[in-house]
This record gives sequence, C-alpha cells and structure tokens, in this order.
Amino acid sequence: MSSYNARFRVWRGDTDGGGLEDYTAEVNEGEVVLDIIHRIQATQAGDLAVRWNCKAGKCGSCSAEINGRPRLLCMTRMSVFDRQETITVTPLRAFPVIRDLVTDVTFNYTKAREVPAFVPPEGVKAGDYRMQQIDVERSQEFRKCIECFLCQDTCHVVRDHEENKASFAGPRFLMRVAELDMHPLDAAAASGLDRKATAQEEHGLGYCNITKCCTEVCPENIKITDNALIPLKERAADRKYDPLVWLGNRIGRRGDGV
Ligand code: SF4
Ligand code: SF4
Ligand code: FES
Repeated sequence: MSSYNARFRVWRGDTDGGGLEDYTAEVNEGEVVLDIIHRIQATQAGDLAVRWNCKAGKCGSCSAEINGRPRLLCMTRMSVFDRQETITVTPLRAFPVIRDLVTDVTFNYTKAREVPAFVPPEGVKAGDYRMQQIDVERSQEFRKCIECFLCQDTCHVVRDHEENKASFAGPRFLMRVAELDMHPLDAAAASGLDRKATAQEEHGLGYCNITKCCTEVCPENIKITDNALIPLKERAADRKYDPLVWLGNRIGRRGDGV
C-alpha cells in the first residue's frame, strides 16, 4: 500500500465549547488512527490534547469517538476506512470534555468505588484461597476488562441523560457486581450484603433494557449483556420471587410495625 493523504475532522475545544477543525495528514501502511492524530499533533497542531499510554489496546486510555462510534484510537486501523472518506474524531460524548479529545472520566471511578469489594471468606488467610477452574469459568471473561469505558460511553441510559448518572452504575460496573456475585469465595451474603439486591436498588440494574450496545463496542469482546447483565437480572428476579425471601420480608416488615 502506498502512502496517501487522509482528510480528518477533529474536535478542538475545552470546557467553554469548541468545534470541528479540518486537517489533512499522511497515512502510511499499517497505521492506526492514533498515528494520524500524533502526526497532526507533530506537524500542524502542537497543542492538540489526546490521552494515550500503551498503543497496544491494553491501557484503555485512548478512548474517543470515530465517525460517531466509541472506539480505541490505537486499535482502529486506517485501512478500515475508505481513502476518500473524511474521518471525524470527537471526544467521548457521555463525559465532560477537559480539552480536545480528552474527557473527564471521574464518573467511572466514582461508580467503581460504590461497588462493595470482594468479601474474604471467614477463617481463610489471604494466599490460602483455592478455587476450581470450573467455578471461575464464567466470570473469568470479565477480568479481561481494560476499563476503557467505551461501554459506559455508548450506553443510552447515560449517554444523553445526565440525570440518570446518579442512579446508574453503567455496564462496566454492573458487570463487576455480576462478577463478584459469581465469585466462588465471595462471602458477601454471609456478611449480610445481598449483591443482587444492591444491583437493583443501588446500581440501577433495572435501567438496562438489554440493547447490547455496550457489548458491540467492547474492544475485549466481552459479552457484557449476555454473560453478565442478563444472568444478574435473572438472579435478581429469582431472589425477588423466592418464597423464603418474600416471607422474610413480610416478617421483617411486621417486626417493624408496618
Ligand atoms: S445492554 Fe444495558 S448496559 Fe448495555 S448498553 Fe444496553 S442498556 Fe446499557
Ligand atoms: S467492559 Fe469492555 S468496553 Fe467496557 S470498560 Fe471493559 S473493556 Fe472497555
Ligand atoms: S493507548 Fe492504550 S488502549 Fe490505546
């Protein structure tokens, strides 16, 4: 493949606003969108802000939107676009812009902190935990997450609804709840923490209407909806209609004088 010049439109601006600016830059064989953004930065726009670290699809920091689709800049090859096409690069829409392609993803760290951590089993020292492969087969997939937050960005529950952010953890962190709920050694239940109930009542599982948009953009190909969110919804529903749980709630309510 010979080199060619590609047309780019890149969002430039900050918290006060901004707009798309046009650039033309050389593209060489095997390059990815991040290479071209770096070339624009090196030759035409030295102050263009872009966040990246690994250039290998592993750090999750180069998330942006390319032609409106949430993607990793470093894992999107230029060869997937038509040479005549103008490629538009914009910051993640669901999070506030800091500058140019860099957004403030604090929302995600806040949600991460709201999910109660793994509860160690009583009487077993750290280092003595033992699990069978078969027991972690389902949840192991979720550990591939690189925390790029593309799923969080694309989910319609928060993408255009700032007002939902307070009560919705988003697919990445609902997946975290599902992972802990499937964990063979997690002693949350014994300690009085019902992860299924908190998924519904505190992390907004009910907002998810299983559109699978999160799954479609995940660069690690994690089946977020099918393997984490739907099973969590099923287990939360089973719990709700469990006759023993129902009876316990009734007795509890009577005890409260309600
Ligand atoms: S499946 Fe649920 S969490 Fe994923 S994008 Fe759709 S509504 Fe959001
Ligand atoms: S689940 Fe996938 S899309 Fe979501 S943060 Fe993790 S790696 Fe990124
Ligand atoms: S730079 Fe690390 S994932 Fe793209």
